[in-house]
Amino acid sequence: MIVLGIETSCDETGVALYNSAPWENNAPAHQGIMGQALHTQIAMHRDYGGVVPELASRDHIRRVLPLLDEALLAAQLELSDIDAVAYTQGPGLAGALLVGSAFAKSLAQGLKLPSIGIHHLEGHLLSPLLGISAPQFPFIALLVSGGHTQLMLVSGVGKYQLLGETLDDAAGEAFDKTAKLLGLDYPGGAALSKLAETGQLGRFDLPKPMLHSGDLDFSFSGLKTAVLNQVNKFLSTGVSDTQEIARFHADIARCFVDSLVAVLVSKSEKALKQTGCKHLVLAGGVGANVQLRTALNASAKKHGFEAHYPPVDLCTDNGVMIAFAGALRMLADNNGSTTSGAFDVKPR
Ligand code: KG4
Ligand code: ZN
Repeated sequence: MIVLGIETSCDETGVALYNSAPWENNAPAHQGIMGQALHTQIAMHRDYGGVVPELASRDHIRRVLPLLDEALLAAQLELSDIDAVAYTQGPGLAGALLVGSAFAKSLAQGLKLPSIGIHHLEGHLLSPLLGISAPQFPFIALLVSGGHTQLMLVSGVGKYQLLGETLDDAAGEAFDKTAKLLGLDYPGGAALSKLAETGQLGRFDLPKPMLHSGDLDFSFSGLKTAVLNQVNKFLSTGVSDTQEIARFHADIARCFVDSLVAVLVSKSEKALKQTGCKHLVLAGGVGANVQLRTALNASAKKHGFEAHYPPVDLCTDNGVMIAFAGALRMLADNNGSTTSGAFDVKPR
């Protein structure tokens, strides 16, 4: 079965073609990736310091059809080779989701194919199965993106149990807001991480929110505020030496990343212990973070679990994860989960 995947939930237009044959034959799942095309709108939104929903929707409209052509070309497939169309149904920006939903459903109707709405987070959650060292079920997924931070017990395709989540900012959101405080361009997560690499360990005593809360929930808004307080304190000293300012930025970035990573790792360890799972999967945009991967690897060694990562290009939003989740859903439900003709998106 060849599934076309369409992702338009936020500021990336992703289109991909996935062949379920390797999965069905117990071969490595990544062998099913036939072709993909991706356009990121980051440059367009940068001037506004965040995603402008109306601009995002319009750009998805402009891009989606050329990207489909590009993905088909990459996969060396024709429209007539497609067996089903999967699209991101939510959560995300309503207008942006509607573009993908309307496009996917119209195409499916025109080609007389089934269409299936996919939960964006399920796409992220299953994408580690596309990695070189794919995990076995059951596993714990640490899902860290711009909009979500969750710990999930994944027992199989469609079998997910939420163990804990953020009570306020998502991890990626905390990264982006802190990066903005330090004058980095939106979305600053990756740049902040890079800056932190040059920073000094432990110069600032930043909080590790909810580290000892006893549950598996998170909270990151206080950490961001603690950085803001340090920035204001530094500015009030009137320092003008550019080297000293650069050092401050790097050191505060380092301490921010260390605090956030410490909480993510500690709660992941707790989730593994609580469920008896031996496999941890990192998913979502923040999953590209080097410090987090390094800390999880160290923890895995110490506590005897295995850490799995999706390929870095599949950490952030993309069409492959939607095509893949669509294929797995169709197989698991024997096509029972395909959706009707209505443009039913679920922004929340
Ligand atoms: O999963 P994603 O592409 O979109 C959402 O569904 O939210 O995640 C985007 C988030 C952004 O907040 C971005 O700053 C963050 O992932 N991100 C990173 C890194 N790369 C992307 N955060 C920290 N370190 C990185 N290397
Ligand atoms: Zn995402």
